[in-house]
Amino acid sequence: MKTAICNSLLRDELKTAFQAALNKTEQLFALVHPDAYNERPIPLRHPIVFYEGHLPAFTWNTLFGKVLQRESLNPAFDQLFARGIDPSDQDTANKFGHPQWPSRAAILDYKQAVYSQFFDFLEAKPWPEHTLLKNGYVLWLILEHERMHQETLLYILHQLPSALKQKPTDFRPVQDTPIPHQAMVEVTACTVFLGAQNNEFDFTWDNEHPRMESSIDAFLMDAYPVTNGQFLAFIEAGGYERPEFWTPEAWQWKTSHNQTHPFFWRQSPEGWLLKDFFDVIPLPLSWPVYVTHAEALAYARFVGKDLPTEAEWHRAAYGDTPRPYPWGQETPTADHGNFGFNHWSPMPVGSYPKGATPTGLYDMLGNGWEWTSTPFMPFPGFQPSEAYPQYSEDFFDGQHYVLKGGSQFTDTRLLRHSFRNWFYWHYPYMYATFRCISR
Ligand code: AVJ
Ligand code: FE
Repeated sequence: MKTAICNSLLRDELKTAFQAALNKTEQLFALVHPDAYNERPIPLRHPIVFYEGHLPAFTWNTLFGKVLQRESLNPAFDQLFARGIDPSDQDTANKFGHPQWPSRAAILDYKQAVYSQFFDFLEAKPWPEHTLLKNGYVLWLILEHERMHQETLLYILHQLPSALKQKPTDFRPVQDTPIPHQAMVEVTACTVFLGAQNNEFDFTWDNEHPRMESSIDAFLMDAYPVTNGQFLAFIEAGGYERPEFWTPEAWQWKTSHNQTHPFFWRQSPEGWLLKDFFDVIPLPLSWPVYVTHAEALAYARFVGKDLPTEAEWHRAAYGDTPRPYPWGQETPTADHGNFGFNHWSPMPVGSYPKGATPTGLYDMLGNGWEWTSTPFMPFPGFQPSEAYPQYSEDFFDGQHYVLKGGSQFTDTRLLRHSFRNWFYWHYPYMYATFRCISR
């Protein structure tokens, strides 16, 4: 925890972190073929162009608008790019349409103007007295928002046709390997705390507070996420045609969307194919399967198991005498899991022995977010953040479910135990996998 006592250290740290994050974002936008800038690879989200304006607009609105109340450089852009969308279906999405987005040049001008003031602010002394500036809070918030959007951008670009993406010259494909034996691991009963203590981290979102105590009964948990190979058995057993595995809502959704296999898969005369980030490849059986919450639950029922609750997942990952990471105290590195943009694909499950829990649960962090059976709701005593009150609150609708863990495109600094991710139960575009438990 850095405090205001070392204010200049804090400024230096933020400056370096922002420079690195903005460079990373720029590299990711460079993946997009110039002709594809206005494409909308996920019809439930805005087109790519929105995201390049959204990041500076968020910075402006949050720091210069909300906190410093400075006069706007471009009120129209501040508003146009203020927030992304998360509609439940295509009809709702279509109502958001902005047919005429500004030119890329205009957006880059805006971005340049915002960040020029931003870096001036980081250097300016002294900062005004404001609760949202204490320990750099709102700056950490903006930084974390940037890092989350790097993953958002990549899962959107995943759906952009390969011809419209520029593959990095150092691209290396990830291999398929034999599937490890799917053992289950015993997790003993204990009491855990979800969420973070005040000042436990440089930054936390509102939904990580206040800490909540939860007592967990013993259960067994899959050692690895469910693989494509295992999920194939569900499809081959007619899982998508058997209503008994699906909730009525999921059955109805699946039928109206003609969904008969995981969204990332394609069928061909030669067999199943996977839509990987750059290429369509023969389905790697050892990789974690990416599915919706509905598909994860159907699979769990098919094998006579269940999905873990958020508290159960947390307890399994962080132990009964809590450790900061599944493997222990060590700061995460590329040897602990598939996160932090080290690979363009998932890795075969179980590839990171150094990242396993002492009891032998693999891939808890990285290689795909993991669905839990817990709807995304506030912990008792929740207070929306004054800096961004809608961040969590807009999604407490019982239709979004908590995901834990992280994916290959999750920044390593988001891997704190209290971080909660969430998506609609039928949202198919996420790098979201799951593992089963038996109670
Ligand atoms: C926390 C990943 C669910 O993408 O909707 C970005 C993050 N919120 N801008 C999302 C977010 C506002 C959020 N998730
Ligand atoms: Fe955002």
